Amino acid sequence: MALKSGLEILQAARDGQYGVGAFNTNDMEITQAILEAAEATRSPVILALSEGAIKYGGRPLIDMVIHEAKIADVPVAVHLDHGSSYESCMNCIRWGFSSVMIDKSHEDEETNTSEVKRVVEAAHAVGVTVEAEIGRLGGVEEHVVVAEEDAILTKADEAERFMKNTDADYLAVAIGTSHGANKGKGRPFIHHERIQEIAGLVSKPLVMHGASGVPQDVVERLNAAGGSLQNASGIHEDDVRKAVTEGIAKINTDTDLRLAFTAAVREVLQKDPKQFDPRKILGPARDEMRRIVEERMEVFGSAGQA
Ligand code: G3H
Ligand code: 13P
Ligand code: ZN
Repeated sequence: MALKSGLEILQAARDGQYGVGAFNTNDMEITQAILEAAEATRSPVILALSEGAIKYGGRPLIDMVIHEAKIADVPVAVHLDHGSSYESCMNCIRWGFSSVMIDKSHEDEETNTSEVKRVVEAAHAVGVTVEAEIGRLGGVEEHVVVAEEDAILTKADEAERFMKNTDADYLAVAIGTSHGANKGKGRPFIHHERIQEIAGLVSKPLVMHGASGVPQDVVERLNAAGGSLQNASGIHEDDVRKAVTEGIAKINTDTDLRLAFTAAVREVLQKDPKQFDPRKILGPARDEMRRIVEERMEVFGSAGQA
């Protein structure tokens, strides 16, 4: 099945009221875990690479991800996550990505709009679709820690204006989620009314960043095997399910895979201190990530859609 543009996958999701996971990858094992889960659950999927991932893995990573996406037998998009500049987006388009995010959400609306427009014009000319963001999430954004009180919810009227003025294809919204494994005390409050208001004015797919569930059993296993993660908390799956019915179509998940990977690696090494075969260490981590991704795909409702 050919590599699909982000919009092809996401507009079907918005129209069909299901969510598609955009899972971050940094290496072969993560990529395989995501694609195996997508094929096993018959789920469309987005493979997301951050600029940090690109710096880490370089062309070998990029070429492997695009190749695996092209030969998968479910629809797959390869996406730049949180692109920081026009140049970064153009490089990814040249390398064969089918979707890019230009994230100028920290700039004023005028600058954000003009930067997104520039990327959209170039991307659309070659069939690549574009994610933009307006509003500001809490947590770690662009490697800068944004305090919860500095997070700014996306406003519906500005979202409508921004999408009209930029012609972007899908919109990341700030509605109470945040990046990382500490999303606040207790169950983070998701502003469902705000999602509904935005979706009433924007018919294109909406994107939830910082959507990881941070499964407590995985955190406990990670800590029991020598880790030290305190106050870990994530987005409740009922909030994700509800958000999908309200217009969220792309659901970004990175932290859950990092937790699954680390718990599995720690467990292998703790149980078998003599182990030094990388395949015996990374194989169980790949299996655990695949299990978590499959669970997410069931929650999002993408399972069975491909
Ligand atoms: O939102 C950011 C993603 O979790 C990617 O994180 O920039 O450390 O690769 P990263
Ligand atoms: P999490 O940290 O909740 O996994 O969010 C990842 C993300 O939004 C990537 O863009
Ligand atoms: Zn994000």
